[in-house]
Amino acid sequence: MRVAFELDGEERTVETPPDRSLRELLREDCDARSVKAGCDGGRCGACTVLLDGDAVKACLVMAAKVDGRSVTTVEGIATGSLGREVQDAFEEHSALQCGYCTPGFVLSALAHLDDDPDADREALRSALSGNVCRCTGYEKIIDAVAAVAERRGDAE
Ligand code: FES
Ligand code: FES
Repeated sequence: MRVAFELDGEERTVETPPDRSLRELLREDCDARSVKAGCDGGRCGACTVLLDGDAVKACLVMAAKVDGRSVTTVEGIATGSLGREVQDAFEEHSALQCGYCTPGFVLSALAHLDDDPDADREALRSALSGNVCRCTGYEKIIDAVAAVAERRGDAE
């Protein structure tokens, strides 16, 4: 099966088995190593990417579904963008330890802040509830994303 799509701003055409998930397509066929393999069942959020700007769990999307569409991983977040601001906030707030969950959290946060730029902590908790972190206890992650939302709110 041939899948043609945009990955982090670059046109890609990939021959892949028909039963591939998007998570497998990205990691196995495109070497996008920031897309993590976790539960492979939609429960951990480690594989989260943006599909046409919406956060999706890549393990739950069939590769065939991305034909003609745009996929963004954390590697495709441009300097100076909201996504970069969120990544920097994770560092500033010590919101990562092993980092395995971080790309998924960053992309889920980015998708939410895009729609709701000055989201409050409760909204952020809810938006990030599909992402699991074994290390941080979540508070620092919420601190990081809330700091971005506050800055965005102040700037408006
Ligand atoms: S690997 Fe996709 S949600 Fe866990
Ligand atoms: S920082 Fe280790 S799983 Fe989140």
